[in-house]
Amino acid sequence: MNIPFLDLKAQNSALKAEILPIWAEILDSAAFIGGAYVTAFEGEFASLTRTRYCIALNSGTDALRFILLALGLNPGDEVITVPNTFIATTEAISQAGGRPIFVDIDPETYTLDPGEIEEAITPRTKGIVPVHLYGQPAAMDAITAIAKKHNLWVVEDACQAHLAEYKGRPAGSLGRAAAFSFYPGKNLGACGDAGAVTTDDPELAATIAMLRDHGQIRKYYHAREGYNGRCDALQAAALSVKLKHLPQWTAARRRHAQRYRELLRNLPGLTLPRTAPDNLPACHLFVVQVDNRDLVVEALAEKGITTGLHYPLPLHRQEAYAHLHLPVGSFPVAEACAERLLSLPLYPELSEEQIVFICDCLKEILG
Ligand SMILES: Cc1ncc(COP(=O)(O)O)c(C=O)c1O
Repeated sequence: MNIPFLDLKAQNSALKAEILPIWAEILDSAAFIGGAYVTAFEGEFASLTRTRYCIALNSGTDALRFILLALGLNPGDEVITVPNTFIATTEAISQAGGRPIFVDIDPETYTLDPGEIEEAITPRTKGIVPVHLYGQPAAMDAITAIAKKHNLWVVEDACQAHLAEYKGRPAGSLGRAAAFSFYPGKNLGACGDAGAVTTDDPELAATIAMLRDHGQIRKYYHAREGYNGRCDALQAAALSVKLKHLPQWTAARRRHAQRYRELLRNLPGLTLPRTAPDNLPACHLFVVQVDNRDLVVEALAEKGITTGLHYPLPLHRQEAYAHLHLPVGSFPVAEACAERLLSLPLYPELSEEQIVFICDCLKEILG
């Protein structure tokens, strides 16, 4: 059986009839940048995340970067985050003028370990960027308590966490501001690149809205230098259509994750991910740990099952961060996880038959 890691075609073909007439209308009106569709989506996403403001942008990377630029970092200012994330998290910190400082992760949830934060704080520390990795919120109460004690801000990297909840509160509403990605493969994915910031802070929202549009306060009047970081109408319109389906897609992801758990329970050589009791995860990725990971990947591929690695090399071991001089052993938990992690296919359209087949193959390979 051929099972792709991700099946975007299935989702898109089901929505084509809804999206194309709206795109035709946008083509006819030629209102491509900003406008009613962008404003409408911003309102919808703000209410979904129970925040006052949503600023739609052209990527999750810009969402993170603009939040950090708006908060204001001076050269040498430090921002604490994790090494097991997509590089966009730390690119945003560096490109906003700061320096990423890594701390290790919890071995069971794979999110930032709050017990590691205080040791990493210096007089130059300005904030913390926890990543809700694979759609599971980080331990926000503990992180926020430490941040308060040291007068630091907390910015959520919620790029993988659409509709996730922490103690009943939505991801995106748990810190000073949050960044979301609508990269096509995300739980809420555009038909191209897009992203958004959510926040309750009016000043931050206004600055980010300005930053996305060359620092303009009105046409050709610039309060500061900014960027071209806008979300276009075609993407916003597609996102509004998809947003209506997101609760039902997320429920399907949660059901599939639960099926994986049932079928893979007690399988020797395989460790299931743990969901912290405070969390209702978005189930963006279902990531197990297996012995001899690379052999398992190959054996699954031979059976037609495509898997993913998120992520194979922690950021502190990347060539891009060689200048930080962080040797092997700096973050033992993140490093050990990177060797064993394996992402299994997880998307709403996945069938029971496919899940059973994947689990049967895993049992055969690991047995
Ligand atoms: C954890 C994390 N942070 C940031 C990003 C960046 O988002 P984008 O690809 O929309 O720029 C992504 C998505 O790729 C991500 O998974």
